[in-house]
Amino acid sequence: MADTPYKEVADVTSKSSDVMWHKADVSSTDRQELNKQKPAVLWYTGLSGSGKSTVANAVDRKLFERGCHTYVLDGDNVRHGLNGDLGFSDKDRVENIRRIGEVAKLFVDAGLIVSTAFISPFRADREMVRELLEVSQFIEVFIDTPIEVCESRDPKGLYKKARAGEIKHFTGIDSAYEAPQNADIHVRTDDQSIEACADQVVDLLLSKHYIA
Ligand code: ADX
Repeated sequence: MADTPYKEVADVTSKSSDVMWHKADVSSTDRQELNKQKPAVLWYTGLSGSGKSTVANAVDRKLFERGCHTYVLDGDNVRHGLNGDLGFSDKDRVENIRRIGEVAKLFVDAGLIVSTAFISPFRADREMVRELLEVSQFIEVFIDTPIEVCESRDPKGLYKKARAGEIKHFTGIDSAYEAPQNADIHVRTDDQSIEACADQVVDLLLSKHYIA
């Protein structure tokens, strides 16, 4: 965590020392049995334009059709509401991921398989979220698309603006992206269909008995 301002951000959040944890009547295990699935976070990470949201939504559709209880938290959407006060400085990105980690943890507690589609560029922050959860509850999905491909897709015209200097701190251009070294699922989007990418994720959930 030394490379990111996480500690500074975390200190801001530990001010409520007189607040006690209230134990829920319905346990996480009760919900798991009702939903007939093992809750987890599918944590998608990758460059802007890599296909995180597209693959996450394709997976979500497949899970939904199988009767699973799911939700997708998407970077662009969450930045309109909960994280609307955050920009793209390193510090704001860290806080963005910290909040999403906590929200994802609540979704897991609610028994869902929750997908998060955020660039989440810093390794230490992804690890911080992993540590919030039980070992089997965090599944890192690396959407590995070369920057040249992301830039040629440029679905929102943001790479063009970043190259022109109109957007500062753009991931992959003038802000770092630290690729996972040991992702649980490594998905390449440039040489296979969205369908095949989504199947790769669903197959892991089946083989590890998250879903039946
Ligand atoms: S993160 O780095 O904090 O994880 P997040 O996934 O929430 O980023 O938001 C990334 C999305 O915001 C991109 O897909 C893009 O549409 C938009 N965006 C706007 N400015 C930037 C920027 N400077 N760097 C990266 N993405 C940006």
